[in-house]
Amino acid sequence: MQTKFAKRITTASRSFTRTILDLTAQNEIISFAGGLPDAALFPKEKIEKHAKRLFEDYDNRLFQYSNASGVEALKVEIAKKYATTPSTHIMLTNGSQQGLDLVCKTFLDEGDCIVVEDPSYLAALGLFHMYNATIKAVPLSTKGVDTEVLETLFQEHSPKFFYTIPIFQNPTGYSYTLENRQEVVRLAKKYHVILLEDSPYEALRYDGVQSTAFADLLPELTIALGTFSKTLAPDFRIGWMRAPQEIISALTLSKESTDLQNSKFFQHICASMMQNGELQEHTKTLIQAYRPKRDAMVKALQELFGDSIEFIVPEGGMFIWVNFKKCNDSMKFFDKAIEKGVAFVPGSVFFADKRVSSFGRLNYTNSSLTQIEEGVKKLFEAYQEL
Ligand SMILES: Cc1ncc(COP(=O)(O)O)c(C=O)c1O
Repeated sequence: MQTKFAKRITTASRSFTRTILDLTAQNEIISFAGGLPDAALFPKEKIEKHAKRLFEDYDNRLFQYSNASGVEALKVEIAKKYATTPSTHIMLTNGSQQGLDLVCKTFLDEGDCIVVEDPSYLAALGLFHMYNATIKAVPLSTKGVDTEVLETLFQEHSPKFFYTIPIFQNPTGYSYTLENRQEVVRLAKKYHVILLEDSPYEALRYDGVQSTAFADLLPELTIALGTFSKTLAPDFRIGWMRAPQEIISALTLSKESTDLQNSKFFQHICASMMQNGELQEHTKTLIQAYRPKRDAMVKALQELFGDSIEFIVPEGGMFIWVNFKKCNDSMKFFDKAIEKGVAFVPGSVFFADKRVSSFGRLNYTNSSLTQIEEGVKKLFEAYQEL
C-alpha cells in the first residue's frame, strides 16, 4: 500500500547542498560548497569551563521543563543588541531555521504570498515551499533589492512578509546600503508588510562599518532572527527572534506546540559567555581567522581567473558570489569541478524559479589557506576545460 504522505513532503526536493555535502564527505574533494564555520575554532575549553560552572551553581532543576520563550538572563543579553528592546520582545528558537519555520507556521495559510530576494537562502526557499506559499522574488544587486519591483509586488500581492537577509547575504555576500534599507522601510510602512530580517552573519564583519538593522529602523513591523550558530557553535541550536509583543506572543504559542522549549543548559552557557564578554572576544578571534581566508580566496580568484569572472569582495560573512561569465550554466561547470576535486554550489539552486545561472557560491570559512589556494587552482583548471 502506498504511504499517504502530505503533499508538502511528496513535492519537496532534497536540498542540493545536502547532496554536495554527502558527495564531499565521501571523496577527497576540497569543498567550498557548505556554509560551515571552521570547527577548529569552536571554543571548546571556554564551553567546558562554563558547563562545569553550571553543574556547580545549579541543582537538578536546571534539567527540568521550563518556559518556551527562553532563559531570562540570555534574553536580557540579546536584547542589548537592539536599540530599544525589552527582554519580553525576545524569544529563543532552536537555531534561526526554527525561527523561519515558526514564522511560517504563525503567518502562512495555504497559498499566501510572500516576497523573497532573488537569489535567497536555499533552506528558507525549501521551507516556504513546504508551507505552500506563493513565492514572489525581487532582484537583489550589490547595493540591495530593486525597490521598484518590491513596490509593485507589495502593491499587487499584499504579501504576508518580505524575507530579507540584508547583511552579508546568503548566497551573495551582498549588503543593503542605508538608502536601500530606508526605501524598503518606507514601502513596508506604506503597504503594511512585515520585514522578516534574517541576520546570521552580521557579527562576522571584516571591513566597513556596522549598519542599522531593520529591527532598529522599523521595530514595529520587523521580525528579526539571530543565531549563535556562526559565532559560537551550530550544534547548540540556539537562535532568537526579536519582534513586537503581539507577534512574540503568537510565535511563542507556535513554539510551544512545536518543541515546548530550547535546552536551558546551552542557553545558560551562551548567557554567561555574553555576560563576561567571552563571546564578543571569541567573535574577534573568528574575524581574525576568517578575514585572511576571504583575502586568500579573493587573491587566488583574481590572479587566476582575471576578468573572465566577476564578483565583489564581501565585507563580511562566509561567501563569495562569483559570475563565471564563460559558462552560461554553472551546473555544468560544477560537474567539471567535481571531476577536478573541488566543489561549490551552482547558482541556480538559490533562485526561486531555479533558472539556469552562470553564478556560483564559494565558501571560504571552512577551508584552510592551503586548501583555498589549491581549490581555486582546481576550479580554474575546470573552467579552462569548459
Ligand atoms: C541565511 C540563513 N538563515 C538561517 C540559517 C540557519 O542557521 P541556524 O543554524 O541558526 O539554524 C542559515 C544557515 O546557514 C542561513 O545562512
